Amino acid sequence: MTKTIELPIDLGATGYVRFVDKVSEGGLATTFLASVYYGGAVRRAYIKLYDHLAQPKAVLNEVLGYLYAQAMDVPTPPVFFVEIPASDVVASGFRTAQVGSIRAVGTLEAHEPKIVGEGTAKTLYLPSALAQIKSRLLASPAGRTLMSFDEALGNDDRNTGNIVFSRKHGVVAIDHGRILTGPTWSRFTLNACFDQGNK
Ligand SMILES: Nc1ncnc2c1ncn2[C@@H]1O[C@H](COP(=O)(O)OP(=O)(O)OP(=O)(O)O)[C@@H](O)[C@H]1O
Ligand SMILES: [Mg+2]
Repeated sequence: MTKTIELPIDLGATGYVRFVDKVSEGGLATTFLASVYYGGAVRRAYIKLYDHLAQPKAVLNEVLGYLYAQAMDVPTPPVFFVEIPASDVVASGFRTAQVGSIRAVGTLEAHEPKIVGEGTAKTLYLPSALAQIKSRLLASPAGRTLMSFDEALGNDDRNTGNIVFSRKHGVVAIDHGRILTGPTWSRFTLNACFDQGNK
């Protein structure tokens, strides 16, 4: 049986449609919700702006995570590149010395919520529900595959914000920025023990 692994595509400047809503600032990345033109249709997508000096391997991690997830049959949304106009870089709240547009990494929205207005989908699971979510994950083959993926790729960041539960796709993995021990990995950290211990 042949498996096809999709590579990220570059939407360039013309694939960007508009800014929709702020999502989160700080941590590793500044994330915002946007509309992009992808595969001949306008789609909702999450765009991540990384400080490349502080997080030199973050984008590489996002891409590698996407490729490995497909190889391991872990549902994950397509990763792509797109050029964000300077005005929307500012609107996202991303702090940068750079003036002008930025080429960023993005993912299509992982679930198909009924959108009644603008904005991000409701968060269904609170951090306090993590224990319940863990036992639900362990009880399902898809959840166990996701845990194997995290273990194999040294991902210590499988928090409730990085799992999307979808009726159609089951458990969907998002945010691969911290695989391989994190976005500043080196051959020394990769040689160290991978067992990061997801709690
Ligand atoms: N493809 C996606 N589909 C649905 N929701 C998403 C998607 N990407 C991001 N989100 C939402 O945006 C939030 C932030 O995105 P993400 O987890 O990728 O970034 P982050 O945690 O801020 O970044 P990092 O952990 O790399 O610092 C997620 O918790 C989730 O609610
Ligand atoms: Mg995250």
